[in-house]
Amino acid sequence: MNNFTKNQIMPTFLLDGKELEFKPGQTIIEAAKAAGIEIPHFCWHPSLSVAGNCRICLVEVEKAPKGMIACATQINDGMVVHTNSPKAIAMRNAVMEFLLINHPLDCPICDEAGECKLQDYAYKYSIGKSRFDETKNHKDKRVELGPNVMFDQERCISCSRCIRYCEEVVGDPQLTFVNRGEKVTIETFPGKKLDNPYSMNVIELCPVGALTSRDFRFRARVWDMSHTNSICTGCARGCNMEVWVRDNIVKRLIPRENMDVNQYWMCDYGRLNTYKFINDENTRVNSPMMREENVTGEGSGLKPVEWDDVIARIISEIKNYRSDEIAFIASPYSTLEDNFVLQRFAKEIVGTDNIVYIPNIQGEDDKLLLRADKTPNSTGLNLLGIEPINTKFIDKLLSRQIKMVYVLNDSLGRLERTEEIAKAIEVAVLQISNFHEYSHKATAILPASTYAEINGTFVNFQNRVQRIRPAVASLEQERLPGEFSVSRLDKFGSHNDRWTKGTRYNARPAWKVICQAANAMGHDFGYTNTEDVFDDIAAKVPAFAGMSYDQIGELGMVVGAAEAVTA
Ligand code: SF4
Ligand code: FES
Repeated sequence: MNNFTKNQIMPTFLLDGKELEFKPGQTIIEAAKAAGIEIPHFCWHPSLSVAGNCRICLVEVEKAPKGMIACATQINDGMVVHTNSPKAIAMRNAVMEFLLINHPLDCPICDEAGECKLQDYAYKYSIGKSRFDETKNHKDKRVELGPNVMFDQERCISCSRCIRYCEEVVGDPQLTFVNRGEKVTIETFPGKKLDNPYSMNVIELCPVGALTSRDFRFRARVWDMSHTNSICTGCARGCNMEVWVRDNIVKRLIPRENMDVNQYWMCDYGRLNTYKFINDENTRVNSPMMREENVTGEGSGLKPVEWDDVIARIISEIKNYRSDEIAFIASPYSTLEDNFVLQRFAKEIVGTDNIVYIPNIQGEDDKLLLRADKTPNSTGLNLLGIEPINTKFIDKLLSRQIKMVYVLNDSLGRLERTEEIAKAIEVAVLQISNFHEYSHKATAILPASTYAEINGTFVNFQNRVQRIRPAVASLEQERLPGEFSVSRLDKFGSHNDRWTKGTRYNARPAWKVICQAANAMGHDFGYTNTEDVFDDIAAKVPAFAGMSYDQIGELGMVVGAAEAVTA
């Protein structure tokens, strides 16, 4: 062949005239992927065994008597492969024609439209018309496979990804094929449901719209949404994910590939339980609030006030007490930046070492992703030197040695003997995003932005620092647009209504409000954005030495790695 030369070090093969190296045992699809070339595929997935049943990856291999499937064909030294020869194109067209014969072509009502491999390939690899004029094979379009996944039998192309995933990744075979030929379909095994803790990953794995999320179904079209890279807050794994938003409302969370953290997956708990509070108009705190002073009985409740008023009140309360009578509850649900600034405020301005956090350990780690630690940033707090609450601290609360408590993004309701503690505390300042069962007892409430509205970092259980980004706009972002990337607006243009529609809460990043309080007490921490805070952490906390926001990137960076890089 024209430009083919034998490489002495690594064996090579030719793909569409391009010489590519391959490792012994590699398949054509794997070597092509490693070189950044995508060969169309439905049933193949890098984390699953090879099924070889969809046939869309058929390629022409010189000297082979017929087309070969790229996902199951191992490369030989000097092999010559064509993915765009007339023969390869004809094979792909034929496969697409077969796949579309019984497909309902119901893209206008299908949740997958806009992110469907079958739809994309139909545009790219099919002839654009059907020769099939018989009646299509009709099947059940609404099968509840489990609590979170709905199945449309007509859309299924029998690629078996979902079956292999349950068996090979989750280790819980819950799905199987039944029947044959045009009657073939997917079912759960008798007496089983698709209800494993990772069941919703089949939704993204399914290359068509056969498996859809019962939570997200019919709630938005994907082209009307923006998506922002973020980190799941459901446990200490910190699965990489995307936050999908329409009209300033979070509609779904889906996993984002990070082979060092969560591979391609996230758990159903994380997907379903870590976003609804962001949209919850009934519980979101939408204004600073303050209890009226020296008023009891009717009218003594919390009233909405201006930011400056509530901060003045907090400062006057701080001045009423000795520093050892004031305590701070940091939050393993909040960013490093929020906690670091809170710690500085406690130590440098109030002058107290009373700063702890409330852990949340439930059950045990499982074999795939879920961690017993149900918080995203307890590792970060430990690295900052903030320790979990202990009995000595609780005794100080109960014995009224601590009289004023400032709680960041948490609830004293997570402690045992909450009622007694709540009674013992004279002043409680809560910096929270949502009201909770004890918030009505607060003296002052500062509305805090949620993780979906801010920049910041969490440290997962592997000591990996990972970034979150604002996906939802709040009033704060209008005031300080520099904190909020507008790249998505540029990308999605007028389709993205995030900036003009939906509720924007009057909430602010916690660290900014703490800086505001510090300023009012005559101390300037000197931060203008989250990056400044992180840089200060890197300068002052040895574990983070040498790290920078940019280095963290999209996939995170392990604590200590910066020193190794710069050494
Ligand atoms: Fe494949 Fe989706 Fe059908 Fe499962 S439901 S076999 S993932 S097309
Ligand atoms: Fe190769 Fe399906 S991707 S046969």
